[in-house]
Amino acid sequence: MKFKNVLIIGANSDIAREFIYLIIDKTDSMLLLSRSNEKLIQFKDSLTENHQGKISIFSYDGSLESIDDSFNFTQEFDLIFNAAGSNNETNVDIESFKSSINSNFSAPFYLTYRLSKTMTSGTVVSISSIAGDRGRMKNILYGATKSAMTSAMSGLRQKLANSNVSVITVIPGYVRTKMTEGHKMPKILTSSPSRIAKLCLNGIKSRKNIIYPIEWLLISVILRLIPEFIFKRLRF
Ligand SMILES: NC(=O)c1ccc[n+]([C@@H]2O[C@H](COP(=O)([O-])OP(=O)(O)OC[C@H]3O[C@@H](n4cnc5c(N)ncnc54)[C@H](OP(=O)(O)O)[C@@H]3O)[C@@H](O)[C@H]2O)c1
Repeated sequence: MKFKNVLIIGANSDIAREFIYLIIDKTDSMLLLSRSNEKLIQFKDSLTENHQGKISIFSYDGSLESIDDSFNFTQEFDLIFNAAGSNNETNVDIESFKSSINSNFSAPFYLTYRLSKTMTSGTVVSISSIAGDRGRMKNILYGATKSAMTSAMSGLRQKLANSNVSVITVIPGYVRTKMTEGHKMPKILTSSPSRIAKLCLNGIKSRKNIIYPIEWLLISVILRLIPEFIFKRLRF
């Protein structure tokens, strides 16, 4: 499988990096987008000269307004891969709310939605989370933003069902990345970023709708079946 022009949203993500390594030889050009320009440059510099030649970078402040003002929406992509996200909700304040909503939903989905309008073929991939399947007390805001992403991707999939554009939602379960550094996660339920990157590429090839590691598909089904009067008493 070959890609002409790829957009990676949240390109400093550990999962995104593994995905980039998987597809770079199959790609003509690639735009890496994130908030930290410095990290994007460092990453680009770490690649071989041949790979560097395929890559452009774009950074912004993470807000919808900044994307709207500065991104060139006339560019055409045949693959949009979104791995932007943040899961850091220690405070209930307006800045944390804005930042979480922007990172996990509004900025990446705004980009995806607008750019998908001019796509005639290709794939849109967005990493959501099982946290979006059902709200839990440990990550109320993160879960809500991921619910929004899962729902928006479902709507976009239905909208583009009669086109040549596939819309894929990824529910990766626990992944060992900088986002989960210091978190206690059972080994058996924790994937490496490269496992998730491979699942994504296989899903693109087979035009999947939703991608789960198999163990997390089971957990998701169970999680959704628990009646609310029991769910509200659970402490996880
Ligand atoms: N790790 C897990 O266990 C897990 C589980 C379920 C779902 N996920 C989801 O998987 C995706 C990738 O996560 P990861 O574990 O690889 O996390 P990660 O390494 O922490 O990467 C997330 C990246 O998102 C970028 N980002 C944040 N806000 C952004 C914005 N507004 N616009 C563009 N980029 C933004 C950040 O880079 P900058 O600071 O440079 O912007 C950061 O490097 C995320 O959507 C995450 O929610 C992860």
